[in-house]
Amino acid sequence: MIRTLEEAAAEASTCTRCRLAQGRTQVVYGVGNPHADLMFIGEGPGYYEDKQGEPFVGAAGQLLNTMLGEIGIRREDVYIGNVIMCRPPGNRDPLPDEIEACTPWLEEKIRLIDPRVIVALGNFATRFILNKPVSISRVRGQRFTWHGRIVIPTFHPAAILHGGGQNSTQMQLLRQDFAELKAALAEQPPPVEEQLGLF
Ligand code: URA
Repeated sequence: MIRTLEEAAAEASTCTRCRLAQGRTQVVYGVGNPHADLMFIGEGPGYYEDKQGEPFVGAAGQLLNTMLGEIGIRREDVYIGNVIMCRPPGNRDPLPDEIEACTPWLEEKIRLIDPRVIVALGNFATRFILNKPVSISRVRGQRFTWHGRIVIPTFHPAAILHGGGQNSTQMQLLRQDFAELKAALAEQPPPVEEQLGLF
């Protein structure tokens, strides 16, 4: 029997599949509408996310909320998760074995939520979805299909904040990508038969 997202989250909350379990305050499973059409995937929890148990609550989260507001979508109507669920020490990048240990949780999460559109925020989420060591600046602006779902890779909001800021070219491209995701959501989903058996 397929379990619910809540059941999966309860099991994940005690996960010890990798070393990050030792330093975390809590597992940050994800937040939002469990049946969302739109899902965002970030990198991993930072300081505030680790404390609050919710993804994207710090500065990057504020920018994500603003971008959602600009296209008329409420944060509570989407689902937000990350490639890894536990904060790495000092906010370092996740290591390959940590990603490998954690992404079965993410794959199950995606399957349970069943979003039509996935937005991969930054390099780690994009590399996981495309299963290739690509750089986000090379692939953004393109759409991909993954197990019957539309994938839109774009810059991580933190990269905008640490890079050129709110008036930068990157920010303009982020806006374009959010307009694209809004358009993708408005499109007719493919027939059910085409979607079956793809995941
Ligand atoms: N950055 C991420 O990638 N994820 C978060 O949850 C917060 C910041």
